[in-house]
Amino acid sequence: MKLIIAGSTGFVATELIRQALAHPKVTSIIALGRREVSLPTDAESDAHKEKFKSVICRDFEVYSEDIKAEMAGADACIWTIAVSPSKLKSVTWEEVCKISRDYAVAAIETIYQSRRDNTSSKFRFIYISGSNAERDPAKKPLILGDYCLMRGEAEKRILTCARESNGTVEACVAKPGIIEDPNRTGILGKMVKNIGRTIIGLPKVNVRDISATLLDQAVNGFEKDTLQNEDLVRIGQRVLAAQKPS
Ligand SMILES: NC(=O)c1ccc[n+]([C@@H]2O[C@H](COP(=O)([O-])OP(=O)(O)OC[C@H]3O[C@@H](n4cnc5c(N)ncnc54)[C@H](OP(=O)(O)O)[C@@H]3O)[C@@H](O)[C@H]2O)c1
Repeated sequence: MKLIIAGSTGFVATELIRQALAHPKVTSIIALGRREVSLPTDAESDAHKEKFKSVICRDFEVYSEDIKAEMAGADACIWTIAVSPSKLKSVTWEEVCKISRDYAVAAIETIYQSRRDNTSSKFRFIYISGSNAERDPAKKPLILGDYCLMRGEAEKRILTCARESNGTVEACVAKPGIIEDPNRTGILGKMVKNIGRTIIGLPKVNVRDISATLLDQAVNGFEKDTLQNEDLVRIGQRVLAAQKPS
């Protein structure tokens, strides 16, 4: 299958690319981002090089014909582009909404438009949101309320687009709490994350587990249209356990 990983330079995308390179059913990876991304240093076999392509996209709202051509024939997309809460101060609120919500909605709509006549296979689109994202405006969370509602609106619009696509596009929303990389965070970072997690009450998931889950769902189909943090842990651990040599 041909897989698009959007936001290819990011934390989760880096692990997704690493696992996708080793996945026997993923035959082609389009690593889509605003910057070039190179192959992980531990994955430079010829087979890996052949299935990997870094594609730079200049406009995530209106796709150029070049980018559409790169995306053509893809079977699934895992969308990781967003401004995370820790980076909210670095851009305006309008930019946050555009990057975290509008880009993903534009992507699934573009994919749907390009596949309207292709009813032979379904395209799978996965949007990574967050466990606190809220779809009901009446239930605005106390912490980061506007942000959580905006991400919840993105979830609704993506799921609606898929529902209205007459089966051409399927969508799934992943709602992780805090995504941990045991190799990345230092002791101080871990302490800060743990304090934040306790105050806000966020669950956690290992980056390897969530990546294994998302790849599994992109390749084999969605268990359901919304995967909560516990689903991301459960499926990922099952998939990774099955990959371990006996
Ligand atoms: N990490 C967590 O603990 C956590 C927890 C819950 C949910 N999530 C969600 O999981 C998803 C992935 O998170 P992550 O930690 O992997 O995020 P990340 O490391 O910050 O990566 C974000 C990606 O989005 C791209 N991006 C940001 N602004 C952009 C723009 N203006 N135009 C185009 N691309 C842009 C970044 O590209 P550049 O490298 O060029 O900036 C990067 O590739 C996000 O939806 C996030 O909200 C993460």
